[in-house]
Amino acid sequence: MISQNSRESSVEILRLNSVVDMINIDFDDETLTGTHSSDPLRHAFSRKKSAHAGMAGAPVPFPDIQRTVTEALSIRAPENKNRCLYIHIPFCRVRCTYCNFFQNASSQQLVDSYFAALLQELEWKASFAWSQSAPFQAVYIGGGTPSDLSPQQIRQLAQHIKRLYPLAPDCEITLEGRLNRFDNEKFEHALEGGINRFSFGVQSFDTTVRKAARRLDSRDYLLARISALTGYNAAPIVLDLLYGLPMQTLDIWHDDLRDYLASGADGVDLYQLIEMPGIPLEKKVAQGKLPPAGSTQLKATMYETGSIFMARHHQKKLSINHWASTNRERSLYNSLAKTSADVLPVGAGAGGHLAGLQLMQFRKLEDYMQAIGNRQFPMGMIFRETPAAGIFAEIKSGMDQGVLSRLRLDEAAGRDLFARLMPLFQVWQENGLVSIEGDYLTLTLAGQFWAVNLAQGMIDVMSSGARPQHAPGGMKVPVSG
Ligand SMILES: C[S@@+](CC[C@H](N)C(=O)[O-])C[C@H]1O[C@@H](n2cnc3c(N)ncnc32)[C@H](O)[C@@H]1O
Ligand code: SF4
Repeated sequence: MISQNSRESSVEILRLNSVVDMINIDFDDETLTGTHSSDPLRHAFSRKKSAHAGMAGAPVPFPDIQRTVTEALSIRAPENKNRCLYIHIPFCRVRCTYCNFFQNASSQQLVDSYFAALLQELEWKASFAWSQSAPFQAVYIGGGTPSDLSPQQIRQLAQHIKRLYPLAPDCEITLEGRLNRFDNEKFEHALEGGINRFSFGVQSFDTTVRKAARRLDSRDYLLARISALTGYNAAPIVLDLLYGLPMQTLDIWHDDLRDYLASGADGVDLYQLIEMPGIPLEKKVAQGKLPPAGSTQLKATMYETGSIFMARHHQKKLSINHWASTNRERSLYNSLAKTSADVLPVGAGAGGHLAGLQLMQFRKLEDYMQAIGNRQFPMGMIFRETPAAGIFAEIKSGMDQGVLSRLRLDEAAGRDLFARLMPLFQVWQENGLVSIEGDYLTLTLAGQFWAVNLAQGMIDVMSSGARPQHAPGGMKVPVSG
């Protein structure tokens, strides 16, 4: 007699086979293949497809959400799978003109009542078998601006997490935010609580560019704060820089890179500015109050400049857009979140995935607070992951590292997927985006700049076989971080 488990795994294999068998490459579609040109970095595609590659699964009907999540959290997690905790603080004092992530303007009362609900949610979710059954490798407190919490709240939040969840001994616990008002008292409270990594959005050091983006501090203030925090010699201090902001010329970008190096920070992310519809920048440009953001070609040149700069200054490359200057920086959460590692979401607007489900928590504060008050999961939408979610995660994490391995891709697919995709890889190679070396597909500098398009392209050519029944075509679910 065939057991339930083996029946389920046979069905899984059949579904994966259909994903691989139904690969459909349209070689006339230049949004997939890229354009053949002498300058692929600047001209292979017209624009970046989206911030992240992805594909949604089948939505779980709203009345079934509570039961589905309860069941998922009531079983033990597989011990050999990496997992992370993501906690969202959806408040900012001021909205930056370029930002996609802004949710709520902060007011003390609102933040305090949200904070109380968040502690409750953490405590409740920790009580499930899934949460207690295996160690967490990374915790990320993101936003919004978690660094705007009070010193006591930051310490209490970290202590709460450490007390309630089984964290691996080397668990990375990151606090995200900005340097504005992040004084020594806050830093010391965070360290006391157990935060062991700090990620600050700087975006640009240039005071004029910063003012145009509604950033709050001057270059001198930022450099003084970074110097004070690295002076503790206690935890990695990592910075985000954006390229393509209005008024950020190539010379200013070069100064930004030099300022990062001189600041003594332990690492840096270089992010390309993505202009999502509805950001304040759009209106300001239309009204003539701000010059437009950098063109795709300028952004490509900025990426090239950044990449060359990092290599010249012997910065350690951790991914296609993240570098470390010291061994202290590991960037564990950022790399794990792009693999098939589970992510337990906590807080309004947090996203995650676990036990084959993609989870998106309520963004509206009232909905979130009401659900927590009623001891309900604060989730408006959840999706069952597509059968190919493991393959897609392997593609995304490979592209993020700048290299796809035949062994790993075929292992995720249970089939010869690397060989099946080879015709597409060959066109990309002719177009200067990748180089095929034995069992590895390595991204060229141009390929690294266009990595999200390449990842999305691979996902799209498999999608007719991967799309589950009743899935909303092309809808994406963001995963936090
Ligand atoms: C969610 S934000 C939180 C950071 C923090 N609140 C701050 O003010 O720096 C994390 C990072 O997302 C990046 N980001 C925000 N808007 C972006 C956009 N439109 N395109 C690309 N990256 C963006 C920024 O580099 C930012 O540091
Ligand atoms: S960049 Fe940070 S502070 Fe600015 S709006 Fe976005 S999340 Fe808020």
